[in-house]
Amino acid sequence: MSRKATYITTPIYYVNAQPHLGHAYSTVVADTYSRFCRLRGDDVRFQTGTDEHGDKIVEAAAKEGVEPRRYVDTIAALFRDTWPLLNIGYDRFIRTTDEDHIAVVRQILQKVYDGGDIYFSQYSGLYCTGCERFLIERELVDGKCPDHLVAPKEITEQNYFFSMSKYQQRLIDHIRSHPEFVTPERYRNEVLSFLSDPLEDLCISRPASRLNWGIRLPFDDKYVTYVWFDALINYLTGIGYPDGPRFSHYWAGAEHLIAKDILKPHAIYWPTMLMAAGIDLYRKLHVHGYWNVDETKMSKSLGNVIRPSQLVEDYGVDTFRYFSLREMSFGLDASFSHDAVIARNNADLANDLGNLFSRSLSMIEKYCDSTVPRPDAADKDRELQDAARTMCDSYLKQMGDFRFHLGLQAVWEFVAAANRYIVHNEPWALARDGQQQPRLQTVLYNLAESLRLLALVLKPVMPGTAEKMMRGLGISPDSEEMQTLEQGGRWGLSMPGTRLVKIRNLFPRIDVKPRKEAVKPELPQDTDQQAGQTIEFDQFKAVDLRVARVVGAERVEKSERLLKLSVLAPEARTIVSGIAGSYAPEELVGRNVIIVANLKPAKLMGIVSQGMVLTAQGRDENGKDRFILPAVDQSVEPGGRIA
Ligand code: MSP
Repeated sequence: MSRKATYITTPIYYVNAQPHLGHAYSTVVADTYSRFCRLRGDDVRFQTGTDEHGDKIVEAAAKEGVEPRRYVDTIAALFRDTWPLLNIGYDRFIRTTDEDHIAVVRQILQKVYDGGDIYFSQYSGLYCTGCERFLIERELVDGKCPDHLVAPKEITEQNYFFSMSKYQQRLIDHIRSHPEFVTPERYRNEVLSFLSDPLEDLCISRPASRLNWGIRLPFDDKYVTYVWFDALINYLTGIGYPDGPRFSHYWAGAEHLIAKDILKPHAIYWPTMLMAAGIDLYRKLHVHGYWNVDETKMSKSLGNVIRPSQLVEDYGVDTFRYFSLREMSFGLDASFSHDAVIARNNADLANDLGNLFSRSLSMIEKYCDSTVPRPDAADKDRELQDAARTMCDSYLKQMGDFRFHLGLQAVWEFVAAANRYIVHNEPWALARDGQQQPRLQTVLYNLAESLRLLALVLKPVMPGTAEKMMRGLGISPDSEEMQTLEQGGRWGLSMPGTRLVKIRNLFPRIDVKPRKEAVKPELPQDTDQQAGQTIEFDQFKAVDLRVARVVGAERVEKSERLLKLSVLAPEARTIVSGIAGSYAPEELVGRNVIIVANLKPAKLMGIVSQGMVLTAQGRDENGKDRFILPAVDQSVEPGGRIA
């Protein structure tokens, strides 16, 4: 059976600005989708690139005092060098200054011209000589060009026009009969509403006498092509239009990805251009919203432009990729903040996924000599397997429909199920009981298998992390079962006997500055409390008791008694606790404990302890003293006050 061909494109970015968060988001989405489609079994091609002609570029080059050619080469290289930092695996990086592109643009112009859909006519507009372009009314301030502070001249210029209006009804019919042509639906409605008014024809040329940085019209070399008529055609050039084998293979599967700012050129100019050129329309247009920064527009003048290279340096590539896909509901605007990235990293990645991985692997290491154990064939644990199937089904649907945040939500529901599975089955207790060896092996096998499935579905979103997980599980990233969901999406493919490989933390926690605490009254000096002695209510109130979630635990070197705990309360803290004789580190991770949060920090074995864990004194089965942690329901969020 032949595989479905999918061709995903990003906008080609103007080279008048350096890559920022918005460009990075579109490109990460396209990369994730292309990897997802491969995982689904499609034959995929992915293209991105740069848009290098037109007024804007000439202006930007002039500002830098360099020739346009040198300028575009420099900025295009900046884009090209940024994408590997984000692990973007495109098949072609196209530039509108590429020779093959220039040839295709001229070919299409000629075709549309020969078909009678390009005509010569007059154009009137407000022309600013300083800007060397027509301004629209909206751009004027008090009737003047805001940059040159002069009133623009009314100019009548002769230009070439594309008969776009001729295709209006055909376009409306196509959108109506193809509900998925423009998605999400809000943008489809926006386009239909725009098309409910008569469409004007599109001016597609500029006289070369005032703009010569462009592609000359094949039928009149005194004119260059309007930048949008040039840029949109990149989608055809990149796959070898008109007669390259890739064109016939991929074009029917073309899916364009853009943000809402360029909806009109993509949903109106482009399909009508294709109609006039006698080319089938693309399959889908996916439109996303805008990233704001801390609730305000991202802009150079506000100084809040977020650079992808900085994000990768600060947080790591996979944290950024995960954050952007999980945080934005595709189609709606979203707000970027550093706190939000850190919160996602610490909660979803370091805590939920990272701990599941390290806990599971360290238990296999400890109890099964670092090899994947053989499960008991009769012992099925249906609930976990059902949760895995539900995840795969939902993931496939949501990711395929560009609802990445929901796809990831489904994955994290499974991560939570696997973490609960550890808590319920208490492998450390099974290990202590000599009779329970077969059950222990089944539980640990199921954890390895859950992690294998997680690595598989996370491949498109966090390719580096997925590979690390596979290596940790002793699986080669090139192995067959890790290539597609069809090959690897079934339960039970982990091979007993596979040796694990030691992997460092998947996601280091990122420290947040502790929030400023309200000043608490000090306990009076002379009240060294003894059991039975009464205290004032105010004294009790001064003790800040909170629920903390243990997210990391390790033995303190050279101490039999102490454990170093990393907790969230909700801020990250380190607490040294004397419970090593009662609890193994892996029993604690993921568990809620009660802490005294405002105890003066104290140094224990060289480690600063920021609080104290409360325990009850009890006895173990042999009658020996044992510290017992009071149970706090897992539904209580870290930081919950005890009152
Ligand atoms: N050159 C045209 C596109 C031609 S495509 C045939 C162009 N370039 S652009 O550099 O301005 O890029 C616009 C695109 O960058 C948006 O559609 C979107 O993909 C991305 N973003 C730019 N700023 C953005 C945000 N603040 N938020 C999200 N994405 C945004 O238009």
